[in-house]
Amino acid sequence: MILVTGGTGLVGAHLLLQLLQENEAIRAIYRTEENIEKTRQLFADADKQVLFQKIEWIKADLNDIPALENAFTDIRQVYHCAAYVTFDPKEEEILRKTNIEGTANLVNLSIAYQIDKFCHVSSIAALGETIDKNKSIDETANWNPDSYHNDYAISKYGSEIEVWRASQEGLPVIIVNPGVIFGSGFWNQSSGELLNKINQGMPFYTKGTVGIVAVEDVCRIMIQLMNSSIKNQNYVVISENINFQDLLNKLADLLGKKRPNLYASPMVTSLAWRLDYIISLFTAKKRSYSRATAKASHSNSIYDNSKIINTLDYSFIPAADFLQPLCSTYLISH
Ligand SMILES: NC(=O)c1ccc[n+]([C@@H]2O[C@H](COP(=O)([O-])OP(=O)(O)OC[C@H]3O[C@@H](n4cnc5c(N)ncnc54)[C@H](OP(=O)(O)O)[C@@H]3O)[C@@H](O)[C@H]2O)c1
Repeated sequence: MILVTGGTGLVGAHLLLQLLQENEAIRAIYRTEENIEKTRQLFADADKQVLFQKIEWIKADLNDIPALENAFTDIRQVYHCAAYVTFDPKEEEILRKTNIEGTANLVNLSIAYQIDKFCHVSSIAALGETIDKNKSIDETANWNPDSYHNDYAISKYGSEIEVWRASQEGLPVIIVNPGVIFGSGFWNQSSGELLNKINQGMPFYTKGTVGIVAVEDVCRIMIQLMNSSIKNQNYVVISENINFQDLLNKLADLLGKKRPNLYASPMVTSLAWRLDYIISLFTAKKRSYSRATAKASHSNSIYDNSKIINTLDYSFIPAADFLQPLCSTYLISH
């Protein structure tokens, strides 16, 4: 039997669907019934509803070890997709607790229950950097603790450390490092928020670069790696590097909205995150635009996906082919 964490999120829900389509027996952890409903919507078609009924749901938080242990009976593989995703600096404590301590709990139980293999969903944010800024970043890039890293990146790096530590203790592991993941459903989180902003007519663009990938590719790659004899390796998982302006223009065209036409320079975005900070101080509102988001929007890092392509002889879905159906689905549900 396979255990999936994060099955009520974008990656975990799409992974559940692919695993069930391959006839795997699945157990998934959840925290609230309300969030299981989001996953159910992904299985709305008649043939998929039958698959959804096959999921064995167990209530467990990553930081509740006794509840988590209940989920481990008869498990042979674990896919760890759960994480807390935020760029609000006020949430540093919950990021550390969920992403680092939660992953430690999960790998410790995986060692104790002698499971066969563990797949961890990390991020390109947890990769290091190249000394020569013109070179692309791959799995060998070194993490420099003296460079600026946002709290989310630090928590993803810390969770990887727990997974590598477990591999040293004998747990066979796979780590995937995806770029920004696009997939249907879950419109109010992750990349769904970007579609919402464009749909609302966001006028700003920046000149950074971003690595993007379809959720279907991320899940397919995880399953292929877990079903292979490969272990103790990590892989950059992006389909392509794309300029922010091109991405925003493509999304605006596909959603039938005006293309963003106001360039937000680094000075403008640094004013914007400071203003957002001051507003959050006076209103107790959650931060909607942080220093981390501003910095990321001007980053020109390029990621190298050749290791996964060569290992699995893999062909990624090009951005043009996954953004078009994604935006059509978005428009139907809005
Ligand atoms: N989306 C992206 O663009 C992207 C890019 C690179 C890497 N990643 C990584 O991919 C993974 C999946 O991301 P996603 O986009 O699917 O995230 P998501 O849609 O925000 O889903 C997060 C999942 O984690 C669960 N979770 C959070 N805290 C938990 C806790 N304390 N105990 C148990 N479950 C908890 C959530 O459960 P609830 O429903 O109960 O909240 C939800 O199922 C994460 O590791 C993320 O860092 C994502």
